[in-house]
Amino acid sequence: RPVKLSDYHVPDHRVTNVDLLVTLHPTATRVVAKLTVERHPKGRPAAPLAFDGDELNLVALTLDGAVLAASAYEAMPDRLVIHLPPAGPFTLTIETMVNPEANTQLMGLYRSSGTWCTQCEAEGFRRITYFPDRPDVLAVYTTRIEADKAEAPVLLGNGNLVETGDLGNGRHYAVWHDPHPKPSYLFALVGGDLASTSDRFVTRSGRDVALRIYSEHGKEGRLAYAMDALKRSMRWDEEVFGCEYDLDIFMIVAVSDFNMGAMENKGLNIFNDKYVMALPDTATDQDYAHIEAVIAHEYFHNWTGNRITCRDWFQLCLKEGLTVFRDQEFSSDMRSRAVKRIADVRLLKAQQFAEDAGPLAHPVRPELYNEINNFYTATVYEKGAEVIRVLKVLLGPAEFKTGMDLYLARHDGDAATIEDFIACFAEASGRDLGQFFLWYRQSGTPEVSVEGHHDPKAGTFSLDIRQTLHPTPGQPTKQPMVIPLALGLIGPDGAERPLLTEDGQSVPGVVALTASRHRFVFTGHTTRPILSINRGFSAPIRLTTDLTEADLQFLARHDGDAYNRWQSIQTLASRFLIASTAAIARGDAALVSVPLIETLGAVLNDAGRDPAFTAQALSLPSEADIAREIGSEVDPDAIQAARLALRRTISDQLGDELVATLSGFAAKGPFAPDAAAAGRRAIANVALDLWAANGTESRLAEVERRFAGADNMTDRFAALAILAQHAGTRREAALGAFYERYGSDPLIIDKWLALQAGIAEPATLDRIKTLLANPAINFGNPNRLRALVGSFAMTNQTQFNRPDGLGYGFLVDVVLDVDAKNSQVAARLLSAFRSWRAMEPGRRGRAQAALIRVANAPSLSPDVRDIVERSLG
Ligand code: ARG
Ligand code: ZN
Repeated sequence: RPVKLSDYHVPDHRVTNVDLLVTLHPTATRVVAKLTVERHPKGRPAAPLAFDGDELNLVALTLDGAVLAASAYEAMPDRLVIHLPPAGPFTLTIETMVNPEANTQLMGLYRSSGTWCTQCEAEGFRRITYFPDRPDVLAVYTTRIEADKAEAPVLLGNGNLVETGDLGNGRHYAVWHDPHPKPSYLFALVGGDLASTSDRFVTRSGRDVALRIYSEHGKEGRLAYAMDALKRSMRWDEEVFGCEYDLDIFMIVAVSDFNMGAMENKGLNIFNDKYVMALPDTATDQDYAHIEAVIAHEYFHNWTGNRITCRDWFQLCLKEGLTVFRDQEFSSDMRSRAVKRIADVRLLKAQQFAEDAGPLAHPVRPELYNEINNFYTATVYEKGAEVIRVLKVLLGPAEFKTGMDLYLARHDGDAATIEDFIACFAEASGRDLGQFFLWYRQSGTPEVSVEGHHDPKAGTFSLDIRQTLHPTPGQPTKQPMVIPLALGLIGPDGAERPLLTEDGQSVPGVVALTASRHRFVFTGHTTRPILSINRGFSAPIRLTTDLTEADLQFLARHDGDAYNRWQSIQTLASRFLIASTAAIARGDAALVSVPLIETLGAVLNDAGRDPAFTAQALSLPSEADIAREIGSEVDPDAIQAARLALRRTISDQLGDELVATLSGFAAKGPFAPDAAAAGRRAIANVALDLWAANGTESRLAEVERRFAGADNMTDRFAALAILAQHAGTRREAALGAFYERYGSDPLIIDKWLALQAGIAEPATLDRIKTLLANPAINFGNPNRLRALVGSFAMTNQTQFNRPDGLGYGFLVDVVLDVDAKNSQVAARLLSAFRSWRAMEPGRRGRAQAALIRVANAPSLSPDVRDIVERSLG
């Protein structure tokens, strides 16, 4: 039965205080929860008490100290009902027994490499004890953890440590108290034999905060960068959002078995270890950037998520979209803003646009769900962040800040809604944000087409702009959106022209669409200006323009907006690749584009201006990007052939420029993970990749030399990735050497697995099956499985979408196998079918058959059932 936003009502009972006693044991952990319960004043007056559970086993139950008669309540694995609860406040003491060792779902209390840890968002607390497990029930938690000292010398909980002690018999305890009322999804505890690194942070009002990051023993040498990122995040949030930390200690624990990226539990963040650990020899520049972003993201949740939480799970984007926006801003301030924007837009298009164009499309704020775990999506997170950015562009930075300050002040301590959030901005700006709200309600990516008309006699340049939003699942008709388009008009000399309307008014650099069609007329243009529009990707739309190839080349060189310089090159490449794909599909040869090669050559020659930007500019649209642009009847093999042909042309024709870039940005000095040094490595490695793309023996030998001689993971892995594209002994030798060196380091094995999963040739499927059967690799770990199978299904366009359907069949086999153990991971893997309807008929039929096989499987988890049913539509 689906859950509907429109069915929301306040809980009948609320819990104001939670006292937990958790006695850790590998297979029989005892949980005694003493809860202060009262009727909610707005709840149904005579309602029974009904708490959530999930696979729970009730041992004992008392109400105000008295044992309840068997007829007074009903305890099922998924529900506890007390038929006639008292009218006044009362104390409920619930004892349950859970088995962390057997918990392969990794929700609730489980064990990861011997460490006890928890994951409670979204509905994991109900796997620990019976509780109104919903985000609008806020309570003060005190957690007493007891454990064997040898097994778990470290015992961690939310809030501040208030007591520790010895229990005799080799056992001990710790008591943690969190004074900030919070929903159950933010509860956490950890117990284990862990190493750690410590530091301090003094907040601007003088609170001295202990900082601690925990990991497995032997890995503590890899925590320094995460600690540095944490301190920078804490400072930045004070300076930019005025948000200060509110406990005496902040802890992060890295665990190796984790369903998602990380979790913002109050005062005790728990992380997938891949987003914590980094050393130059183990992590790439990209890993460093991800660690910085995720550390910041989880820390920023302390205000946007924890102090202000969500009323219900439909409001997930209230905390996630906003917190992604905040972590993006943080990274932009730490690194290059333009390069960060480009990376974010690449991700948005790859993940969210793909989702929005297929059967799994849903609004940023969904109105219905079967399984909330399936809504931790690119739409909620990434588009959720874009929508905040749209709001900021519409209001301008000053009004945006006033609205944000109002939200943080007014809703501190609340479980809030998107309506509450937007009301703060409406009030602060005095604007009607009714139409803006459609960004939360309407799914699908708006399509905007722009035509420019120059009238030299009248001296006008006019823009005719239309927007359309196609039907998406559950939304057959749509209303026009408010779409802010940042724009500029550039003269032939490269200078910005003033934006003047017909009545001589100067327009700030943004126009807002509110209707399906608009005409904007700008005056004072006796010569034709070149339009630069949707600068900085001011709105998350699909844009088509009538800009010519020459216009795009011009913009690639002269646009003052770095994002649009990049976008112009992408548009040039993408238009060309679509045409070349069509030619190949017709049986003709791949096309050749002189202007595109010229533009890329010019970009290379200018690489010194901003190496990291140049690296992005030279990274061609991916096969998936091109498939998305084509949109229907996709033939991945033709796309791949077109793209490979272009890479070979670049390799052949720009060889000298590429070599010059390679030597110009050769590594010097010791490794530093900062953005400038990372930018130099990025451009050098992109150049190396293009230079070797024609597969010349001597060039590949040079790559091999660099692979062997690299002194950091970024360069070593970049070289390996190039070698992996070219079949032969060189590839196998390099893959073997890499495994030899890092075989005992699971996070590095993940890179090795993902690389092989991405090899674009028919033998890959067998290679993956062989790897999956390797007993030395633990594919029960979600990171391993995602690295191999997830990368294959999400990134290997030609092999996942093999014309014989074997790629689809393989994914289905894995999903059905994993579903029984970890349904969240299985459902996530299955969502790789999100674009199946865009394929040409042969592949489409095979994908449909594979999905039907899932749908007909005997016992599916609710998670997988939901994805398969929506995918089939
Ligand atoms: N709130 C976490 C974050 O984005 C994500 C946790 C989601 N976990 C889950 N099992 N659905 O930072
Ligand atoms: Zn988050």
